[in-house]
This record gives sequence, C-alpha cells and structure tokens, in this order.
Amino acid sequence: MTTYFSEEHSVEAVNGRMAPDTDPRLKQVMASLVKHLHAFAKDVELTQAEWDYAIEFLTDTGHLCSEDRQEFILLSDTLGFSMLVDSINNRRPEGATENTVFGPFHIDDVPVRQMGDVISMDGKGEPCLYIGNVQDLEGNPIEGAVIDVWSDNADGFYDVQEPDTQPRGNNRGLFTTGADGAYHFIGVKPPPYPIPFDGTVGKMLAALGRPYYRPGHMHFMVIADGYEKIVTHSFVAGDPHLERDAVFGVKEQLILDFEKVDDDEVEWRSEFDIVMVPTP
Ligand code: BEZ
Ligand code: FE
Repeated sequence: MTTYFSEEHSVEAVNGRMAPDTDPRLKQVMASLVKHLHAFAKDVELTQAEWDYAIEFLTDTGHLCSEDRQEFILLSDTLGFSMLVDSINNRRPEGATENTVFGPFHIDDVPVRQMGDVISMDGKGEPCLYIGNVQDLEGNPIEGAVIDVWSDNADGFYDVQEPDTQPRGNNRGLFTTGADGAYHFIGVKPPPYPIPFDGTVGKMLAALGRPYYRPGHMHFMVIADGYEKIVTHSFVAGDPHLERDAVFGVKEQLILDFEKVDDDEVEWRSEFDIVMVPTP
C-alpha cells in the first residue's frame, strides 16, 4: 500500500520506496539515516530559514574542497564524527595502543630515514628524541614494522601548509624496525596549533564559541605484517589545549611525558611504546 507523505509518516514514506532487491547493508544504513535525520528536524522543529542556511553552509563547505584541502573531513573532525567512526572501527584489548584521528596533513611521499635520523629540516625548534619499541601484547618485539611520523614545525605549521618556506618532508620520516623492534629519531617538541579556521568550519566554531586549537602532538602510523594498522599521536603532557582539542583526538593513554634532558644533541626526550594487536 502506498504511504503518502505526511509529517507523522515521513520516515515510512521515504524508506518504503526502496526497491526490495536493494543491497541489504545499503538499505540498513539509508533507512537509519532517514530515520535519524527526520527525528532531528522534528526534535528542533527546523525552520525553513535554518534549512536554507544549512544548505548554503554545506555548499560553501564543498566549494572549499580541493586536492589540497578537505573541509568536509574537517567538519567531520570538529563534530566528533571522525573520532566516533574511528572508535567503532578500532576497538582494541587492554594494553594495546589506541587509535586517534588521522588528520589532513599526511603525505604519501614521506622521506625514508635511517634509525636515529633527524627529521627536522628547517633548523627551527627545540630538538626532541623520540624513542620506543614496537611490540605485541606480550611485549615481544615486532621486526619490520614501518613507522610513519609527522608533526608541525616550531611555528605550528606542517610543511604542506607552507610549501614556499618549508622543505617538503620537514618533520616527517619513514622508519623500519629491526629485530629488536626499537625505534628512535630526532624531531622537535611539537607546539600546539590552530586547525584551518578561514573556512566554513572556522565560522561554525566561532559561532559556537568553540576552541580551534589542537594540543602539541607527533603523528604515528604503524604498519606491520600480521598486525592491525595503528594511526595515533603522542600528545605533549601539560599542553594547555589537551582538554579542549578542536577535534577530540586526545585519549589519556596517549598523553606522554616530554622530559627536559641535559644533552648536547637534544633538549627533550619522549618515550612511547607502540603495542600492536594481531589481525584476526
Ligand atoms: C592534525 O592533527 O593534523 C589534524 C587533525 C584533524 C584536523 C586538523 C588537523
Ligand atoms: Fe596534527
């Protein structure tokens, strides 16, 4: 029987139109999306002017997207949605290293480095020794783990944000562990930085009075045969922005001591063991 559209039966009217042979997963996802979207409009009694504004906001967000910028991902990040999807898809046992948001500043052409190398190429910032082990849940070393790291420079910008002033590959590196699973390299102590706020996301954060800084962090992506990929950060303990990260990426386990050291080569030392879970 046809269900004509009405406010009361809006969900049934829309979902009832799906063909019987629609892919079951697509059917489940779309039916739930329609249900919750309609419930949202009914809950807030959305006005026409508000919906028109939302369409304009989403259109402007799309227009800001290009090869070099993804305002929709930033929107997802600042709505906590990226972290929610990441959490659902990366549930791990106690003791394993937790995931956090990937972010928009990873590049594929990462410089391959030797263990112990300096990744900072602009001569700025306070040198920091990053050191640790890649291991399994029992503490056994993982050989051949590929560790991809990236951070902002001392001014709070990634190389891709300043292509005219920073060398490409600045504060980035790709390392492979040996039989002992150990890694170490020298970067800088990463300062906090604002997420890009000159677009629609910045407008939203300003309207909501929300902070737009991320606490200082070093990104790590670790891949090893037979183990689940880890995408994470080490956060600088004591950073004033830890409890108001614009993209909700902070997890207690990932807040690490950056110790001041008395050394000729480095001013800071940060130890971070990465514990991987076997793939099922
Ligand atoms: C980042 O950590 O690089 C990042 C993550 C999400 C949004 C913006 C930046
Ligand atoms: Fe970052």
